[in-house]
Amino acid sequence: MPSGLILGIESSCDETAASVVKNGTQVLSNVVASQIALHAAYGGVVPELASREHLRNIVPVVRSAIAEAGIVFSDLDAIAVTEGPGLPGALLVGILYAKSLSFGLDKPLIAINHLEGHIHAVLMQSAPRTDGPLLALVVSGGHTHLYLATLTPSNTWTYRNVGKTVDDAAGEAYDKVAKLLGLGYPGGPWIDALAPFGNPAAISFRFGPIDTKEKDLRFNFSFSGIKTAVLRYIQAHAMQPEIEARRSALALTPDLPPKDAAALCNQQTLDLIASFQASVVGVLIRQTLAAAEAFGAKSIVVSGGVAANRELRERFHKESESRGLSVAFPSLALSTDNAAMIAAAAWPRLLANEVAPESMSAMPQLRL
Ligand code: KG4
Ligand code: ZN
Repeated sequence: MPSGLILGIESSCDETAASVVKNGTQVLSNVVASQIALHAAYGGVVPELASREHLRNIVPVVRSAIAEAGIVFSDLDAIAVTEGPGLPGALLVGILYAKSLSFGLDKPLIAINHLEGHIHAVLMQSAPRTDGPLLALVVSGGHTHLYLATLTPSNTWTYRNVGKTVDDAAGEAYDKVAKLLGLGYPGGPWIDALAPFGNPAAISFRFGPIDTKEKDLRFNFSFSGIKTAVLRYIQAHAMQPEIEARRSALALTPDLPPKDAAALCNQQTLDLIASFQASVVGVLIRQTLAAAEAFGAKSIVVSGGVAANRELRERFHKESESRGLSVAFPSLALSTDNAAMIAAAAWPRLLANEVAPESMSAMPQLRL
């Protein structure tokens, strides 16, 4: 008698995560061991440190996920693990552990694309409209991708990439701009918290059209230009002393909640932050709505770390609903990397008997 219980394991970047999900929708446990504090000192993820930290965390994280779900290992129907994309050494830790569990428990192993996981973080919580294809925007520190998703007769999803960033990911731009401004890491939550204190119309950052040689990738993004524009603005307005003072203050109080940091910023900085965010959010929404219109998608799902952004959520809802489109986001806990989304994505694949081969390995550059 199948129990509908899948253990998901995620270790593609700087979060060691495990979760038990029932029937693809019911989250019984969702454990995430974040390495943010470890990498913050370097201003970004250090791959070697990440792998070692995953190795340290993987056993206790999986144990907690099983215990919090109130089950025992033998209750599971399958083990799901992130196959890629991600850091090779980081992925290998989760994969090797998932393989060992699958072997020891004699349960099937399901390999999941991390990006499909992000999309399922939304689908597991809200069913999309079925009167057209679904358009998914995955926007994180590593990705800014648009996919057209359709359900197959076997009830699994297939994806067609219809847009992507040609340089930096949107989350990467948030992180780099936050670093330029002397704010903490990761930068997204800091900019999100400080933007409401500034005037979003103070500075206009323009995004030009992006050349693309691939015929059907018509809805691309580029975020490296805005990062350079912010740097030029900082230099042109001699903002460095104010920035360095803030950097030193935050080095002394690294645990300062982002929402309390406004006191460390002058109005010019707050205006710069608000204008940066308004431009990034604007271009993400513009391209997504243009793609939805071009492909006749009535349902939009937005996921990945940047989907936690409050302005993105508010403006997306307003602008989609006025066009008769539905837009869905994951809960905040499921926006950033987690393993519930991996277990959820595995459920239709288990039902379709799409089990991973024994030779399955890390696919750092895996595409969706
Ligand atoms: O999905 P995620 O946890 O990991 C990747 O797969 O990259 O995304 C992390 C990214 C970071 O760049 C972080 O700055 C950004 O998501 N982020 C945000 C917010 N929270 C996290 N960006 C904007 N606003 C937020 N509230
Ligand atoms: Zn992610």
